[in-house]
Order: sequence, then C-alpha cells, then structure tokens
Amino acid sequence: MSTLHQISSAALRLLPAETGHGIALRALAAGLGPHQRADDFPVLAQDICGLHFANPVAVSAGFDKNAAVIAGARRLGSGFVEIGGVTPRAQTGNPKPRLFRLTPDRAAINRMGFNNEGSDAVLARVQAARDGSTPLGVNLAANSDSTDPAQDFVALVETFAPAADFLTIDVSCPNSANGQVFLDPRALEDLLARLSATREASSGTPVMFAKLAPDLADDHLTELLEVMLAAEIDAITLCNTTTARPESLQSANAAERGGLSGAPLFEMATEMLRKVYAQTQGRVPLIGVGGIMNGADAYTKIRAGASLVQLYTGLVYEGPGLIQTIKHDIAERLTRDGFIHLSQAIGLEHRS
Ligand SMILES: Cc1cc2nc3c(=O)[nH]c(=O)nc-3n(C[C@H](O)[C@H](O)[C@H](O)COP(=O)(O)O)c2cc1C
Repeated sequence: MSTLHQISSAALRLLPAETGHGIALRALAAGLGPHQRADDFPVLAQDICGLHFANPVAVSAGFDKNAAVIAGARRLGSGFVEIGGVTPRAQTGNPKPRLFRLTPDRAAINRMGFNNEGSDAVLARVQAARDGSTPLGVNLAANSDSTDPAQDFVALVETFAPAADFLTIDVSCPNSANGQVFLDPRALEDLLARLSATREASSGTPVMFAKLAPDLADDHLTELLEVMLAAEIDAITLCNTTTARPESLQSANAAERGGLSGAPLFEMATEMLRKVYAQTQGRVPLIGVGGIMNGADAYTKIRAGASLVQLYTGLVYEGPGLIQTIKHDIAERLTRDGFIHLSQAIGLEHRS
C-alpha cells in the first residue's frame, strides 16, 4: 500500500466508523484511491456460471449499499462488483451508532439493518454503470417491515434481472426483522421456486447466488444446502457476519449487538467453506468471504474451496490497496505451488 493510502486509511480510522466509511465512499466516487486494472494477472482469470471474471477478488456486499461507487470499486482492481443489500423500498436502517470498530481485534460489529435508498434509485445507477467490463451483481434483501418478504425478493428479481449479471439472495442477515425468515428450509424452497419462475419470465436471466451466515448447526446447514442444490442455485456465498463472540476478542466494543466481521471471523467462515465444499463436492461454485486481511487468507479460502473471494473489513484496516495486494500475492503463491492457473488451487486441500 502506498504511504498516502496508509496515512489516509489511518486518518479515517480516527473518525466514528460510519462517518469514516461515508468519507471513504465519497473519496472513491471522486476518483481518489487506486487506479488498477482487473485483468493484470492473466493466471487469475476464469469463467464461472457463464460470466468472465478477470480475477477472483472483490469487495463484498454492504460496502456500497446504494451503488454509488461502482466505478471506484472497479478501480480498486476488483474482478467483480456486488452492490447492496437493496430492499424494494428505501429504509433508514437501525438507529446510529450501528457500526463499530474493534481495532485491537482487526474486526467490526455492525447492526446497520439494511439502510439503503431502495430499488428504484439503485436500479438507475446499476443500469448506468453496467459496461460489461466486470460482472456486476446486486445483493437483495426484504424490507424489515414487509409482511411478505418472499414477494419483496420476487419484486427485486423482476427489477434487477434485466440490469445485473448476478443477484445474491441474502438469507442470513442477523440485523433485520426479515433477515432470517428463509433459514426455514421449506420457506427457502418455496422462495427459490418462485424466484426461478420470476427469473425465467424476465428479459435478463442473471445468475443467482445465495448467501449464508456461519451461525448454523451442521444439520440445518445440510438441509439448506440440499434445498439450494435441488433449486439449482448457481453459486453460494459463505459467509455473512456472525453473532458469535470468540473469547479472543479484546475490544470494549465486542459487547455491541450485531454481526461480527474481520479477522476473528476468518477461521469460522473458512471452516464453513470447507464443510460446504466437502458436501457439495465442487458441484456449485463457492464464494469465500469472512476475515480476509491479506493474500495468504485469500489463498487459504481458495484452497478450502472458494472459486471467488470477497472482503470488506480488511479494507478498513489495510486500506484501498488491499485488493491489488491480494491479487499479486495469489498469483505469486500459484507460481510457487507450481500451478499455471487459479483453477488448479480451488479446493486443493480436499485433494491432498
Ligand atoms: C457495515 C457492513 C454492512 C454489511 N451489509 C451487508 C449487506 O447489506 N448484505 C450482505 O449480504 N452482507 C453485508 N455485510 C457482510 C459482508 O458482505 C461480509 O459478508 C462480512 O463482513 C464478512 O466479510 P469481512 O470479514 O471481509 O468483512 C455487511 C458487512 C458490514 C461490515
């Protein structure tokens, strides 16, 4: 990371967490920060679900809830972009403060509650930004006061299907009244059937991802995976933040309510990824998220079974150059391990 990026990241960390994030977004929107390419490491390129990913690294959902900095996220060197979570109607989310840094733990806790400007405002920006350069996805969520969360997802798929390359159904948010309704396997089954019909009927046919949180018992996880595989979900994102609080946490903010992200999530999230890769046997691509702070972490996720990786909290601590650093590091590790292509490392742990 450049000295300038280091200084500005450290300065932002002196501000309240949500204020710092707002300034970082405005700086990215203004064209500040890195100007990297997505396709500078050909060894990292792959086609997944019919989409071309010039590299496997991206910023995860929640970073750009309103699609305000799609171009800025691309300039970080990302191989794809996922904006949102977006709900059908605008909502303010939970009262502030709702985002907390756990600096000694290199972590964060958030209970944002899907604050966003709603699908109409976001759609216009997604349409304007879609240029075919990198896959562009929208993370979808139900309004917290909705009496029919399944209908919210149907409406969102109708809205965004013609405009996005992939859509992520977030069935795992710990911070919103309707965030966990579809953790009931029967409810998820009905939802995915309705969304599949909606997708077929729409003019675009985006790829459909589902995102889970790590706080699931093994049996429950297995049931949800069976439902997802039967519904032919295109990829699974593992994982969202956790409500668990590892004993190792040092920060006073550890007692805040919400989802924990960052370094202390890494082991838990990677273990879930391993389990799901073993159970699905490579039948569905996995996106590894949770606690990636450097290239070694990203490579561990890939070897555990991730075809793509995403990160959010790492950017807060390591600055905007992190995506590029990770790409460089993965490419180096592939060479060191004697591979000529990224695909050779995906799920490697399970073969050795
Ligand atoms: C402030 C904040 C807001 C988030 N909002 C969303 C969201 O709207 N939808 C979603 O699927 N995940 C959301 N996430 C979860 C992240 O996408 C990611 O899964 C999680 O933070 C773990 O990755 P990390 O350890 O690299 O941060 C949010 C995370 C944070 C910190």
